[in-house]
Amino acid sequence: MIERIRELLNREPAEIPVTAQGWVRTKRDTKHVTFLEVNDGSCLKSLQVIIDRNSREVTDTLNRVSTGASVSCTGRLAESPGKNQKVELHADTIELIGEAPPESYPLQKKRHSFEFLREIAHLRPRTNTIGAVARVRNAMSRAVHTFFQERDFLYIHTPIITTSDCEGAGEMFQVTTLPLNQVPMREGSPDYSRDFFQKPANLTVSGQLEAEIYALAMTNVYTFGPTFRAENSNTSRHLSEFWMIEPEMAFCTLEGNMEVAESFLKYVFSHVLETCREDMEFFNQWIQKGVIDSLSSVAEGVFTRMTYTDAVKELTAAPVSFEYPVSWGADLQSEHEKYLTEQVCRGPVIVTDYPREIKAFYMLLNDDEKTVRAMDVLVPRLGEIIGGSEREYRYDVLTRRILESGLDPKDYWWYLDLRRYGTVPHAGFGLGFERAVQYVTGMQNIRDVIPFPRAVGSAEF
Ligand code: 4AD
Ligand code: MG
Repeated sequence: MIERIRELLNREPAEIPVTAQGWVRTKRDTKHVTFLEVNDGSCLKSLQVIIDRNSREVTDTLNRVSTGASVSCTGRLAESPGKNQKVELHADTIELIGEAPPESYPLQKKRHSFEFLREIAHLRPRTNTIGAVARVRNAMSRAVHTFFQERDFLYIHTPIITTSDCEGAGEMFQVTTLPLNQVPMREGSPDYSRDFFQKPANLTVSGQLEAEIYALAMTNVYTFGPTFRAENSNTSRHLSEFWMIEPEMAFCTLEGNMEVAESFLKYVFSHVLETCREDMEFFNQWIQKGVIDSLSSVAEGVFTRMTYTDAVKELTAAPVSFEYPVSWGADLQSEHEKYLTEQVCRGPVIVTDYPREIKAFYMLLNDDEKTVRAMDVLVPRLGEIIGGSEREYRYDVLTRRILESGLDPKDYWWYLDLRRYGTVPHAGFGLGFERAVQYVTGMQNIRDVIPFPRAVGSAEF
């Protein structure tokens, strides 16, 4: 394998020949030499390649090189007079591997809107921004695993196809092999006994229920996988397919859950600040001014804790008028979440003990019978980044909550069994991975922090 450009850029000038391969970002001709900016995705910077057009052959090749073409250049690394880089490549040979005809290549050197780039998602990782997002996303997934592995959490691979609805919200994509043009019917409904799984199945909205099974055997576990929601919300914070990290801890209450969530986020943010300096400076300058400072202060500060009831008090006393009215019992809207973090707490806040009616059936019911031991972690600019809770571990109460939520306890027999045999207090949470990448990079739209966004009406690539 040849050296990557990131490595070459950190070298000292030397006489021994090296080869650089990548895609041309720009080409500039002067009288006798041609300058190419070549990028291979290993870092934000491109390598400056300088080629003498001293032969017919080199000139012919260079005439066919343009933005987007793939090339392989060999020569020596020389000290660069430019202030942006230590070295540049003085190439003796250049091989054109793949042309990119300028009359049709859509990614010419100019600023493109992110909306346009989404339409060419097969080419957009070749841009500075989407390339930087890919590297930061990679660093963050590594940090996720390191954080939990260092703390003895087991990584559990939970299923993608399930027959239960974890959030009980009915926002699921159905998985079926029944013929849609002639669904077999029985007593007025589709005859699922003839479907592939012999009952209705869907893509999972969360790995939590299965993670709980393993937590009640292995104590501390986590999942990190894709989840799917058929919500019809066309916002800059929602995807139909997104990745979620879900730790689950036995012998743990909401207090322990909050501590893990706080140290987890701080760990991931610090890791990015340490390992993705160049990319983060790019985001800081071009995408979200001050993003580095805000991440550092989150990594060093403390997260405020506040009950839902107190949050509602703060919001009703607020000297601003919200689009959605605030009242005890209603869910917090993103404008409320932003107000709490940006104006009231001036940093992340963990809101706890939400009304039972607006949260999922599995959350531990408080003694007041009105609220559940839920927690949402809210951050400035974005609002909710984590949702979690202590789990209902009492068999009777859980059965009651399942019924109240309009679900059938029979469908949850194994989940209830965990409360019949060796039940313990346990808790966990889910971090929306794309929300976290959005927060770290400052990117405005969640569709630009996942390689291939799936949303209403959009599943190309
Ligand atoms: O709050 P949610 O729905 O919680 C759960 O799914 C629990 N089962 C987690 C658990 O306790 N194990 O989702 C968790 C997080 C949200 O805070 C948000 O960051 C993200 O997942 N999320 C989405 N991200 C992108 N697009 C969507 N449509 C999302 N819905 C939720
Ligand atoms: Mg939530």
